[in-house]
Amino acid sequence: MQEPNPYKIPWSGRSVEYTSAEIDAVVNAMKTADPLTQGKYLKEFESKFSEYLGVKNSFAVSSATAALELAAILTRVGKGDEVIIPAHTFCATAIPFARTGAKVVWADIDRDTRIVTAKTLEKCITKNTKVIVVVHLYGLVANMPEIMALAQKYNILVVEDCAQAIGAEYQGKKAGAYGDFACFSFHCQKSINTLGEGGMLVVKSDEKAKLVPGLRHNGVKPYPAGRDRYWVPAMSNVDFDIEGFFPYNFCIGEVQCALGIEILKTIDAQNQKRKERAKKLIDALKEYPELSFQKAEDGQGKMHVYHLLSAQYDGKKFGKTRNDLIELLAVKYQIKTVVQYYPLYRYPLFQKTGFGTADCPNTDEFFDNMISFPFHIWMPDADFEYLIDSTKKSLEELRAQKIMKMVPKIVFGEGKFDALHPIAEEIFSLGQGYIVYLIDSVHQKTGLKNRLVPRNQDMVIDIDVSLHEPKTEQVDQIKDQILAKKNALPHLVVGIGGGSVMDIAKGVSIMLTNNSSSADYQGWDLPKNKAIFKMAVPTLSGTGSEATRTAVLTSLTKKQGINSDQSIFDAVVMDPELIKTVDLEQEFFTGMDCFIHCVESLRGTFINEFARSFAKTSKQDIEDFFLKEKNYGKLMMASYFGGSSIASSEVGVCHALSYGLSLVLGFRHGIANCIVFNQLDEFYDTDVVKMREMMKKNNIELPKNVTKGLTPEDMEKMVHMAFKMEKPLINALGSNWRNILTKEKVIELYKKM
Ligand SMILES: Cc1ncc(COP(=O)(O)O)c(C=O)c1O
Repeated sequence: MQEPNPYKIPWSGRSVEYTSAEIDAVVNAMKTADPLTQGKYLKEFESKFSEYLGVKNSFAVSSATAALELAAILTRVGKGDEVIIPAHTFCATAIPFARTGAKVVWADIDRDTRIVTAKTLEKCITKNTKVIVVVHLYGLVANMPEIMALAQKYNILVVEDCAQAIGAEYQGKKAGAYGDFACFSFHCQKSINTLGEGGMLVVKSDEKAKLVPGLRHNGVKPYPAGRDRYWVPAMSNVDFDIEGFFPYNFCIGEVQCALGIEILKTIDAQNQKRKERAKKLIDALKEYPELSFQKAEDGQGKMHVYHLLSAQYDGKKFGKTRNDLIELLAVKYQIKTVVQYYPLYRYPLFQKTGFGTADCPNTDEFFDNMISFPFHIWMPDADFEYLIDSTKKSLEELRAQKIMKMVPKIVFGEGKFDALHPIAEEIFSLGQGYIVYLIDSVHQKTGLKNRLVPRNQDMVIDIDVSLHEPKTEQVDQIKDQILAKKNALPHLVVGIGGGSVMDIAKGVSIMLTNNSSSADYQGWDLPKNKAIFKMAVPTLSGTGSEATRTAVLTSLTKKQGINSDQSIFDAVVMDPELIKTVDLEQEFFTGMDCFIHCVESLRGTFINEFARSFAKTSKQDIEDFFLKEKNYGKLMMASYFGGSSIASSEVGVCHALSYGLSLVLGFRHGIANCIVFNQLDEFYDTDVVKMREMMKKNNIELPKNVTKGLTPEDMEKMVHMAFKMEKPLINALGSNWRNILTKEKVIELYKKM
């Protein structure tokens, strides 16, 4: 996907636009603070913060990560202990605890609130559990009374990660006022932004609080008061606060503290505005249950501060994924949404340290379907309205794509090719308008080209698809060739050939009425203008292109379809005689493309009854054709039905792996599919056996050892390509697909091919 540059609504790297009072406070501190660290602003910031939160001991530090480091040290966990941490959070929540040598145990989130609960935490408790870290993610406070009761029951310390929750409340008490420790962030994307970095540690125990000033400042501590000479034996002492434990420097500067004091004054108003905006957006989208926000009760002392605005998109019903929504918002509306908080056990950092496994289905499901909207508080109101409006439109568009447009006119029957012109005349009322015939150059040899009866004004263009799959460049050239020769646009474009020629015909008919290059239209619903009428005459059956709303093209940067209603043919002429002369291997591999479409469609989760009906018929017809009787009418209908089925469902594991194989080894799609499918017993068992039966009956041999001798780099490239096919993989294996189809598994499968 080509990212817009710039975005109309970016993902901002700063949470606030500073007010003049805040800028004045900074300038004043810059001019007057002495010292510039560890001075009066630090003290004031800490005491105001404690007051705001309703706690006793607050310590300003250089970041929330530093605060978490100190909390981890102060809990005294280490080897042999276990720390429970939500898997759905920023990595900084976990790293300080992993560093102690303790075992990190990942807790799942609740499906509705997307944060941990006493229930999800309790599952992880063992006799070794010493600490629970609770993250009030996105600004929503967990049910702390329940969690504190749980911790008390098992004698466990609780650390609250409030990086995103300043001002949030539960039962009238602020986030951070519940746990044994609490950590806040003043990073540039947080509500209190102390010039990019900053944080605060809150410590409940007065005893432990006494250790913090030394631990955060290289163990520096004053000598007892009343020395005769203030410089003897030195200006200040340095010693352990925790015997044997070397301290850090996690100090924050005075200018940052001066700014923190100032922002703290407005934090409630800021939170109020966030809340109002969040409510407005959520309300505006409540007619779209496929987009669900964190379930948060409001009132009765509960306050979600919506540090971020995240939601889960469940578009399965429409055959759409979260990625479709993100792409649509980015490409069409120039709004940058993001995905956040990769389940921590998926990161190499944690996998390499033994924390790579977890039982967190809700975490997986949420991450794989989540979308986070830009929500910086300084977003102008007009942009915020645009965000709401565009999200609505995008959701509508993703729904609307489910309104299946089908080919409106179909002519079926042997010998129809010879009536092509009268058929076109009857359907399209040609008048003086001219036709562009795009015909596979193979038909110079088969004689089919000679049977065309073009009129004087018509154009016939031979299309060579023997060397590569259709390219955007090729489509653009054909369009230029037509426009260079003629003063007016054609009335009709006719594609005569297999999937490649039909896709080129779709592309050309669209590009004749839409500007720039066809590469700009690879994606969903991008052509704005109605395409020229187009008609397909398939001479090879299987790809289903004659029925689908995509024209698959390869540009310099990607292979992707022009997915649009404009890609649907206005008419298809199906003459079974035309496909009789195709050589056996090509007939088989293209037929198998259809068979595999049906299998993947039928076995996937995106299917509906509409697609199922087509797929079932098509699959049976293909089996009959290759196992019983070569009825070409049946094969032709199987292809059309297979295409109709896949148009409203999705492919699966085979297509994902076969794209990798084609990319690196150059196999054409049909044969690549068969090579892959032959190894997929684990996923498609009886259907793989059926394909082998058809191969045997038709004396088809597959190439063997095709991946032998491949370099690790090539193997990596294939895996990468396969993993890019996320939607088919979700269709086949669910949102948890990464745990089923691991990289090792894909390599093992490729190696067998
Ligand atoms: C949940 C959570 N914890 C910890 C941190 C770390 O904060 P900092 O950048 O201040 O170290 C962040 C920052 O994004 C966070 O979102």
